[in-house]
Amino acid sequence: MQTLKTDRLLLRPWEPADADFVYDMYSRWEVQRFIGLVPRAMEDRSEADRLIERCRNFDHPVRGFWAVQRVVDAQLVGTILLKGIPASGEAPLQPSGDTEIGWHFHPDYWGKGYAAEAASAVLGHSFREGLGRVIAVTSAENTASQRVCERIGMEHQGTTKDYYNATCELYLAEAGSRAS
Ligand SMILES: CC(C)(COP(=O)(O)OP(=O)(O)OC[C@H]1O[C@@H](n2cnc3c(N)ncnc32)[C@H](O)[C@@H]1OP(=O)(O)O)[C@@H](O)C(=O)NCCC(=O)NCCS
Repeated sequence: MQTLKTDRLLLRPWEPADADFVYDMYSRWEVQRFIGLVPRAMEDRSEADRLIERCRNFDHPVRGFWAVQRVVDAQLVGTILLKGIPASGEAPLQPSGDTEIGWHFHPDYWGKGYAAEAASAVLGHSFREGLGRVIAVTSAENTASQRVCERIGMEHQGTTKDYYNATCELYLAEAGSRAS
C-alpha cells in the first residue's frame, strides 16, 4: 500500500501498536452509528487487534486501508478506506465491481478538515493508479459524511439500493472530472 502525504497528514499502513487508538475510535457509538447494516460499537480491545491484522494482510495494488496521522505530532486521527463494495443480493453478497471510498475519524479530530484532506489524497491516488470511478455511499442521516463527499468534489447521484442490501445516498467521482 502506498504511503500518501498531504500538507497536514500522513496516510500510512496500520501497525499493531495502533490498537489503542483503533479501539478508542471504534468503541464510540458516535463513530459507529452509521457504519454497517447493524451498527455496533467495539466492546473488546482484541477486536481492534484483529481489525488491524486484517488491514495489514489486505494486499492490493490500488485499494487499501490507511491509518491517518497528523504530521505535526504523529497523532492518529482516523482512517480512509478504498475497497470493493458488495452488490445487493442473496447472502453472501458478491462484489459489484465498483470501488468505494470511506472515512472514519476519531471525534476528537472532527471539524478540522482532516477527513476531506485525507480522502482527497486517496481519490487522487485512485485516479493516478488508473481507476475510472470511485463511489461513496452514506445513510440519508449522515450529513457530516455527505459534506465530506461534496468537499472533495464527489457528485450526488441520488438514492440507490444497489449496494449492501441497503438504501443509501450515492456519490460519484470520475477520473478527469476533478482537480487532483
Ligand atoms: C464523517 C466524518 C469523517 C466527517 O468528519 P469532519 O471532521 O466533519 O469532516 P472534514 O474533515 O471534512 O471537516 C470538515 C469540518 O471541518 C471544518 N474545518 C476546520 N478547519 C478546516 C480546514 N482547514 N479545512 C477544511 N475544513 C475545516 C469545516 O468547517 C467543517 O466543519 P462543519 O462541517 O461544521 O462546517 C466524521 O463525522 C466521522 O468520522 N463520522 C463517523 C464515521 C462515519 O460516519 N463515516 C462515514 C460512513 S458513510
